[in-house]
Amino acid sequence: MSDILAVNAVDVTKRYGALTAVDGISMAVAQGEVYGVLGPNGAGKTTFLRMLFGLIRPDGGTLQVLGRTWQRDGTRALDGVAGFLESPRFYPYLSGRVNLELLAGLDGGDAPTRIDRVLDTVDLTGRDRDKVGGYSFGMRQRLGVAAALLREPRLLVLDEPANGLDPAGIRDMRALVGQLAASGLTVLLSSHDMGEVEQICDNVTIMRTGTVVYHGTIATLREQAPEPAHRLSTSDDQSALALAAGRPGLTVLALDGALAVRGSLDAVDAYLSAVVRHGLALRALSLQEAPLQSLFFMLTETSPETVPGSLDRSPTGARP
Ligand SMILES: Nc1ncnc2c1ncn2[C@@H]1O[C@H](COP(=O)(O)OP(=O)(O)OP(=O)(O)O)[C@@H](O)[C@H]1O
Ligand SMILES: [Mg+2]
Repeated sequence: MSDILAVNAVDVTKRYGALTAVDGISMAVAQGEVYGVLGPNGAGKTTFLRMLFGLIRPDGGTLQVLGRTWQRDGTRALDGVAGFLESPRFYPYLSGRVNLELLAGLDGGDAPTRIDRVLDTVDLTGRDRDKVGGYSFGMRQRLGVAAALLREPRLLVLDEPANGLDPAGIRDMRALVGQLAASGLTVLLSSHDMGEVEQICDNVTIMRTGTVVYHGTIATLREQAPEPAHRLSTSDDQSALALAAGRPGLTVLALDGALAVRGSLDAVDAYLSAVVRHGLALRALSLQEAPLQSLFFMLTETSPETVPGSLDRSPTGARP
């Protein structure tokens, strides 16, 4: 892979009147990786991605996409970049294929010769002659990816590609992104769901109201995640609660007709064994919230300063 970064943002800021939508963000996306921009509603994800496409200009900082800048290279800064923002839009009364034909015609060159291939890549062959108005949400998202692939991008930018998809749709989108990444494409995607991002991204930037609260690998993030919390139901929760007393590294609380159990895997295992040894039956044990999900909420809902060891605003922090 070339040394040129797919995205090199340094201290990028975008303001709308008094509101700073993106506040001094730095981000380094290497070519060939799958990079996630994660954050709750209003964090500034779409605003940041809009700047990559040159749809809006930063008020401060510098932004290079595949080594090019809008100031120096104008529309050539878009060479090699394709994707969609918010959700892809098509003519609903035309088929998926005709929509792609129109787009390929606009792009010119040999884009029309790629239509069959991109339809096959996103698994829409067979439905390509149906009207887009009759497509499911997931099919429209996949058609959006197909439209982007017509341009043979080196950087694919997908704004919330899994938004609104059901679990099967999310799985398909994840597989598609994985397949595209395996072919060498750089993928920058945004999401508000940690679960979506953790399985496909190498590195993430987590945003909260325009600022970065975490830069780094998913692996590093996982190390910082709190211990998992479980919901436990037994044949006698009162007695089970009493058995938790004095166990190191374990917190058990009565909660909504069940017990909330938090601790390391070892501590939870030992506790469950004790519960069973005491003749109580286990009726249900489920993970309440994935540890990474908990960390995501901690990072994006509380003041960033309250989360130790997670702040690294430098883009190089993405590669410890
Ligand atoms: N054109 C605009 N004019 C004024 N304010 C805007 C504009 N675009 C975005 N904003 C504001 O900037 C902030 C960031 O918005 P943005 O759409 O980038 O967030 P997001 O992270 O993409 O959120 P979501 O998850 O809801 O898509 C929000 O407070 C939003 O209201
Ligand atoms: Mg958005």
